[in-house]
Amino acid sequence: MSKTVEAIRCLSHDTVSLFIRVLCFSSALIFAAFASSACRGDEQHGFAGQVAPLFQNFCVKCHGTDEEDTQLALHQISATMDAPLQLANWSKILTRLQLGDMPPADERQPPRDDRERAIRWIKAELDRAGGRADAGEAKLRQFAYGNLVDHESLFHSTLEVAIPAEPRLWRLSPSIYEQLVNDAGGDSRSIAQPFALGPGGGIKDYAAAFVVDEPTVTQLLRNAGEIVAAQTRDKQDKETNETVVFGNAPKQFRALVETQGGPTGGQIEEALHYQFDRILQREPTADELAGFTALMRKNIRDAGAARGVRATLAAVLLLPEAVFRLELGQGPPDKHGRIMLSPRELAYAVAYALTDERPDGQLLKAADEGRLATRDDVRRELERLWQDPKTKKPRIPRFFREYFGYHRAPDVFKNDKDVKQYSGRFRAEILVNDTDQLIEWILKRDQNVLKELLTTNRSFVNYRVDSKKGPVLAHDKNHMELAYNVAIDEWTKDQPMELPREERAGILTQPSWLVAHSDNTHTHPILRGKWVRERLLGGTVPDLPITVDAQFPDAPEQTIRERLAITKDSYCWKCHQQMNSLGLPFEAYSHLGEFRKLEPVLDLQATAANVDSKGNPRGDVLREVEVDPSGVISRSGEQGLDCEVKSAVEMIHRLADSDRVRQVFVRHVFRYFMGRNERPGDGPTLIAADKAYVESGGSFKGLVISLLTSDSFLYRQLPSQVARQ
Ligand code: HEC
Ligand code: HEC
Repeated sequence: MSKTVEAIRCLSHDTVSLFIRVLCFSSALIFAAFASSACRGDEQHGFAGQVAPLFQNFCVKCHGTDEEDTQLALHQISATMDAPLQLANWSKILTRLQLGDMPPADERQPPRDDRERAIRWIKAELDRAGGRADAGEAKLRQFAYGNLVDHESLFHSTLEVAIPAEPRLWRLSPSIYEQLVNDAGGDSRSIAQPFALGPGGGIKDYAAAFVVDEPTVTQLLRNAGEIVAAQTRDKQDKETNETVVFGNAPKQFRALVETQGGPTGGQIEEALHYQFDRILQREPTADELAGFTALMRKNIRDAGAARGVRATLAAVLLLPEAVFRLELGQGPPDKHGRIMLSPRELAYAVAYALTDERPDGQLLKAADEGRLATRDDVRRELERLWQDPKTKKPRIPRFFREYFGYHRAPDVFKNDKDVKQYSGRFRAEILVNDTDQLIEWILKRDQNVLKELLTTNRSFVNYRVDSKKGPVLAHDKNHMELAYNVAIDEWTKDQPMELPREERAGILTQPSWLVAHSDNTHTHPILRGKWVRERLLGGTVPDLPITVDAQFPDAPEQTIRERLAITKDSYCWKCHQQMNSLGLPFEAYSHLGEFRKLEPVLDLQATAANVDSKGNPRGDVLREVEVDPSGVISRSGEQGLDCEVKSAVEMIHRLADSDRVRQVFVRHVFRYFMGRNERPGDGPTLIAADKAYVESGGSFKGLVISLLTSDSFLYRQLPSQVARQ
């Protein structure tokens, strides 16, 4: 059994040891993850066979001189890993090979198999020598590095069945934690969130995006205390004016402090049943009853009735099961060494996949009655939740927000004076709302979803449905007069409106997306292109090095395209060629999302001449330059897709027809619903999901249900087996 499971078994119910327990717990997890990634069975090949030749052919050209001692000398590196310096060098090499950024992108690359063999050898040796084989892997588990998994190895996988991930714990999402707090009787507004999601874009709720550290544990302890305080509030008796201890608590808790000579065993059990039901939505086991009863008695003896009871009730809130989603699996492994999630784990996994709520009664009942044990059972429950209009499913629109990133438009500050020609204030929230509605409209039809998202020329424009008046303009009189951003002649209630086809194609031409991928005062072809490279083409751009002073030149007399010429320098270009020419077609849209044929730049001569009679400058004079919206699709990895394009609309239509782009979309949906990056072992899952999407005529529901009934979702791999992928 995995270390994680052992760690859970060994837990004691003593609040004092909680701190160590949670920490020991998370390190057990990490241990399990890394132990599993160590490779066995490749040692016989060794350094001389698979590592030295790779270095010789692909590295020593740059790393083969002794002259500069700062550079790694790979022509004479020793295979031994005894000294700290040797270990440090080898882990650096491993990280670079794993991230795929050595040799540099514009150099000849080693064949994938050679690279992977070398990675396996170094990992195994580092593990043996006690070195760090994890730095690169920790990075690879983050969302931003998901594309580093080779596309072909996923979609041309020859695996017979998927090799899922190891058992894992996944901390509750902030919204579910809030719900837990409220369900328990606390007030989520008055507690601090222990599981806040980090800043930045992309898919947020990632299992690897979080480690349980000391501040988290401290916060969890404090919150547990506050929740129990709310559960067991005292009351002031109006007549006698006396304090009634636990006067506002449920009767099961009150009984514990009211009984002379301490609570009976039966009273303690009733209270524990109540607390387990509130927090864990289940009955305690016999062992748990015994353990918590002993703890309750001890705490009452040591700290008095009220404090002792509170501490014990708080301990239930601190059980790993209360704050983590458990995905450990249960039962005997199948012939591939995979174990299925337990019925209760599945109930939670299904609920958390679609909703921000804990599982509903039907899911829990199905789990308890043995009707949540097969793929078809899971499919039945997913269909039920999906169809049920009363079940709120915020996780679905949230995917599209995080994938496209348009909801971040309000984060990009715009000066009201830039929009004064539209008589009003700039309200990015309205733009976001319009895009939300467009996505909802497309999802309702659920046909060719990705293609519609990328190419539709329809758009909601400044649209809001008032409960009494029906469709109305979304702004109020202090805000923009009309739907300026798409320059329509007349606003109508009949929405989504049709916009000119040659001007607009889907989400990437929605003002919200354009604003979110722009700067305060100008467009941002780099960010727009980076998005297309990563989210549609599945490519990668190495992180911006901190040594680069990345700023658009302060040259207001030049167009943005001209200012970007600074990145043509060969050092810059090795990264920027991945982004710039995919982003420049969007120069046809201003930083506010308007379609434009002309771009204003500073007219130096006219500004110099613009002086009053005393020769004082009278301000800037602008002139308009024709926009060049051409660009290039390059290095796409798909035959026939690379080409020059004349406009963003043309580029988007080409991309929307590409198999590769569709598969990259499938990869992102996978990441969102699995909470982790795809790995080579997930190939069969991705192939099946892509097929389900195509065969259902582009149904998003079809795609998601395929993923949520896949082996990657339902199973966990015993660590010894994961090593073999
Ligand atoms: C075209 C020249 C070139 C080739 C080929 C090349 N590298 Fe590099 N490497 C560099 C440069 C330049 C740096 C320093 C800049 C940086 O860190 O990106 C570097 C840095 C590194 C570092 C980090 C060194 C440190 O001290 O932090 C490692 C490790 C590395 N390379 C490994 C490799 C390996 C392994 C290969 C072959 C698979 C390889 N490199 C091939 C040019 C090259
Ligand atoms: C290793 C890859 C890499 C190299 C080399 C690189 N860049 Fe970049 N650059 C990036 C990435 C990635 C971004 C986008 C940053 C982000 O996501 O905000 C960026 C962004 C920029 C920006 C926009 C910054 C802003 O205002 O948001 C400018 C300007 C820029 N780079 C200029 C340069 C110049 C000039 C060079 C060469 C001296 C250079 N870069 C070298 C990767 C690189």
